[in-house]
Amino acid sequence: MSQIINGKEIGQKIREEVQTRVATLKTQGVTPGLAVILVGENPASKTYVANKQKSCEAIGMHSALIKLAEDVSQEALLAEIAKLNQDDAIHGILVQLPLPNHIDEDAVIGAITPAKDVDGFSPVSVGKMMLGQDTFLPCTPYGIMKLLAYSGIEVAGKHAVIVGRSHIVGKPMGQLLLNEDATVTYTHSKTVNLPYYTKQADIIIAAVGRPNFITAEHVKEGAVVIDVGINRNEQNKLCGDVDFKAVEGIASHITPVPGGVGPMTITMLLDNTVKAAENTVK
Ligand code: GUN
Repeated sequence: MSQIINGKEIGQKIREEVQTRVATLKTQGVTPGLAVILVGENPASKTYVANKQKSCEAIGMHSALIKLAEDVSQEALLAEIAKLNQDDAIHGILVQLPLPNHIDEDAVIGAITPAKDVDGFSPVSVGKMMLGQDTFLPCTPYGIMKLLAYSGIEVAGKHAVIVGRSHIVGKPMGQLLLNEDATVTYTHSKTVNLPYYTKQADIIIAAVGRPNFITAEHVKEGAVVIDVGINRNEQNKLCGDVDFKAVEGIASHITPVPGGVGPMTITMLLDNTVKAAENTVK
């Protein structure tokens, strides 16, 4: 049987450490503050944003929600960011993605000052990550590195196969694993004969956004399987990118959905925001 990696438990442990850092900052007169910009009425985005705010407040941080209409102009959105860049009560700025089509996402992300880029999506943050310099790491891949470390899984020298190449997960995930001396293979929707690659993996990161896409034929005996997917199956039930039932028993370790990677993403956002606040008192 595979060992189940409990992201809820590991996330909670890290949140307690982050909470202690919040308390220390408060004794220095600083309350870490996160601003979240939400454009439009996307129901999934609304849920994510509400969870981010709740999690901030639960550990004593300040959170501000800036809600903008679906048809907001790019100029007005950039003006909000410029204001938050200057606001001393705000240490982290997050623009919830996706944005409406009329808005240039690159321009918006690029407008966030690197010191407050707690999503780690701006070109400066991405460049620093590639160079192995200290910066804000994208929350989901950063959380996965924590899951591996807390589970005692050695990364150096291992073959990690990433399935999916998004800017938010796949690409930075490969880079973080490479920074820790893994051998990294990227695969994606156009990869021919995917199982040929995944079957060689010591660590599989499934981040394709397709329900139950990774099955027994993709997984080598004893591999570590990390499932980043949040999908709905035909019964409208939450499921990951990995067919858990098929792979459990083959993998040495596996993350469940829900309760695996999910709880780590917000945890690392809190960690990044507190780090941004700590940087202002150094
Ligand atoms: N949309 C889906 N995931 C994310 C994320 O990690 N950050 C932001 N800003 N938007 C998202």
